Amino acid sequence: MRFDIVTLFPEIFSGYLTQSLLSKAIDASLVEIVVHDLRQWSTDPRHHKIDDRPFGGGPGMLICVEPVINCVEEIQRQSSEPGQVIMLTPQGDRLSQELVENLSTHRRLILLCGRYEGFDQRVIDILQPMELSIGDYVLNGGEVAAMVVVDSTIRMLPGVLGDESSSLEDSFSRGNRILEFPQYTRPREYRGLSVPEVLLNGNHEAIAAWRAKQCQSRTADRRSDLLDKHSGS
Ligand code: 6GU
Repeated sequence: MRFDIVTLFPEIFSGYLTQSLLSKAIDASLVEIVVHDLRQWSTDPRHHKIDDRPFGGGPGMLICVEPVINCVEEIQRQSSEPGQVIMLTPQGDRLSQELVENLSTHRRLILLCGRYEGFDQRVIDILQPMELSIGDYVLNGGEVAAMVVVDSTIRMLPGVLGDESSSLEDSFSRGNRILEFPQYTRPREYRGLSVPEVLLNGNHEAIAAWRAKQCQSRTADRRSDLLDKHSGS
């Protein structure tokens, strides 16, 4: 799977890209990530300016339409099959595990990271991107959100996680869209807190039942909205 990331701050991604799970996936050719510096697509060769003041007035600066279109069209030319364009914006649909699973079926994603007050509306009109938000709060730009999209998507790809089954048991994953049960490792007792007896006696049926109950009560406690949403499935 290939990701093209279009950003004004390519250096933000360098630490993330060398993170072990991702760099292993890149080394194994399961994932390819190309970061594009939008400033190189500026129509102003002297100052590499890519933003301007909004018509009609108002605060802040907007990212201009021309460099974004030129950059994305060049990215699309690099492959015979078109990539799905995604714009990271607080105006977008909220990212969910369901959406992540859908994204992981694409061969190519092109992620547009906004800064300032956003993009000229014609970027959206022309590219018709899928607009995604990662939650109801405001970030300084789409870069962190783009990393969230890459991070959540690649773990759905076969071969990326060491243990193939482990993403299935995550909170929100397929077949388990509720919260996870608590887990323990050694020591058996620490500061008076003991590991629940049921986990120590090797009765796998009892363990599975205990865990299922923990998932339910935790979810009811913390995220009852998830139970309402998935009670029919
Ligand atoms: Cl994708 N971008 C920005 N700037 N803020 C956000 C967001 C995205 N998702 C939540 N807040």
